[in-house]
Amino acid sequence: MENKIPKHIAIIMDGNGRWAKKRGLPRTAGHKQGAETIRKIAIACNDRQIKVLTVYAFSTENWKRPEEEVDYLCKLPKFFFQRYMAELKKNNIQVRFLGEIERFPKETQNVILTAAEETKQNTGLILCLAVNYGGRREIVLAAKQYAKDVLEEKASQDLDEQTFASYLMSKDMPDVDVMIRTSGELRLSNFLLWQNAYAEFIFTDTAWPDFDESELDKAITEYQARDRRYGGLK
Ligand code: IPE
Ligand code: IPE
Ligand code: MG
Repeated sequence: MENKIPKHIAIIMDGNGRWAKKRGLPRTAGHKQGAETIRKIAIACNDRQIKVLTVYAFSTENWKRPEEEVDYLCKLPKFFFQRYMAELKKNNIQVRFLGEIERFPKETQNVILTAAEETKQNTGLILCLAVNYGGRREIVLAAKQYAKDVLEEKASQDLDEQTFASYLMSKDMPDVDVMIRTSGELRLSNFLLWQNAYAEFIFTDTAWPDFDESELDKAITEYQARDRRYGGLK
């Protein structure tokens, strides 16, 4: 039990815009630097034998931002994989994604699908990008599919948690152990609502572009010191 390595770390990568503003740069410069932090933290998680790292890159609510910023964020996966794919592959990292990517430009969709396809045999860290992802949306889509399967007599009406979880986008992934949010905001912003049910939450004031390996290690150490009771007694 002691010094247990978390299986699944999820991160709400927040503060890119404020990081850039503080430096007199456009918000997009913060997103660019934030992409570099994803690379760094993915490699660090892989080195630490963590199984899954899910990063919140674009929420279903982020479409509300100015068009210029949305356009930039839509192109970011292309930039990210062009620049970092070779290194991710070298490190045996598998890429996955959560979210409805259909709403992104075709080119972005292809880049994401190709990254997942080209790394699907890799056995190291699963780097999962949450893109056009929303926790409520995920649950609604799962409920719709389940209802359809019941109507078509492909699923039993006797629904349990395990079966419902198999309809979620995260179906093959363990629940979240550590949920980190950067940049001082203390909320979930519609991230992994189901999967975070028993996660340990860690908040830091550091903006995502400044988050580094030592902050990651601090979060892991704090997680290891927590007493996870799952409603029982200890
Ligand atoms: C997080 O940084 C990245 C995304 C939401 C895409 P923000 O862009 O939210 O940065 P702040 O919170 O405005 O500083
Ligand atoms: C959450 O950050 C979404 C991502 C990190 C992708 P936001 O910056 O969009 O969240 P709010 O608006 O502060 O809740
Ligand atoms: Mg934000």
